[in-house]
Amino acid sequence: MSGDKGDVRPLGIFDSGMGGLTVMRAVRRALPQERIIYLGDTARLPYGTKSADTVTRYALQAAEHLVARDVKAILVACNTASANALPALARAFDPLPIIGVVEPGAEAAVAATRSGNIAVIATEGTVRGGAYRAAIHARMPYAKVTEIACPLFVALAEEGLTQGEIVRLVASRYLDPVFGAGDARPDTLVLGCTHFPVLAEAIQQAAGKDVTLVDSAETAAADLARVLAARGLLSKGPAESPQFLATDAAARFARIGQLFLFAPINEDQVTLVDLSA
Ligand code: DGL
Repeated sequence: MSGDKGDVRPLGIFDSGMGGLTVMRAVRRALPQERIIYLGDTARLPYGTKSADTVTRYALQAAEHLVARDVKAILVACNTASANALPALARAFDPLPIIGVVEPGAEAAVAATRSGNIAVIATEGTVRGGAYRAAIHARMPYAKVTEIACPLFVALAEEGLTQGEIVRLVASRYLDPVFGAGDARPDTLVLGCTHFPVLAEAIQQAAGKDVTLVDSAETAAADLARVLAARGLLSKGPAESPQFLATDAAARFARIGQLFLFAPINEDQVTLVDLSA
């Protein structure tokens, strides 16, 4: 595997749907020589409203599928799966490097805040376990962390509905109670779900121009690059085009996925797979 070309095995990235493509974009920028297999569990989305046990089972199946395709590392490009299933994934696939997005998101938030007053928007499943609160407090014990579950944002993003009145109204409904609070307003807002960056404009408008929006994409990609380098797993390329796997609706994945990846996806690049088989 490792030779003149380095380790040319692919990287596996997965999410419940298309949100993880926002992270894949950052990975392609940070590691342009790597081949990527992206898996979106579109048949079972959303993960964010499901129990921790179910999310863990789905995440284990997704990782298992990627491992069968000989990936050299896995990036869990889903905050809900990272918050609920990372220890189970690490145990099941040790010593395969498995990187989540919650710790990198917390890292980005702590780097951005000046006041230590940080808000996190995420799915119910991420907010439930307090994973962001814990990850931020581990780095900044005095931080004030407010977590807000915003499940409707996932549906809007998967619809490709990223702008306009409905998005603005939903954003206000979720954010006004926290960002309308005068002096106590957070100065930093973590997009703690990989679906949310495509709604950034409306979210920024509802939070206010002075609020810094951060997500985990860049920091997670940097973490992945660091781990690959440390373990001698980097490829020297050249990269082949990425492969996309979805558990349902390949045409829809290609059509809407482009909004998340900011790059074209052809339907014939998307293969349907069954994770429960
Ligand atoms: N994109 C996922 C996350 O980062 C989950 C969205 C969902 O399936 O509810 O949490």
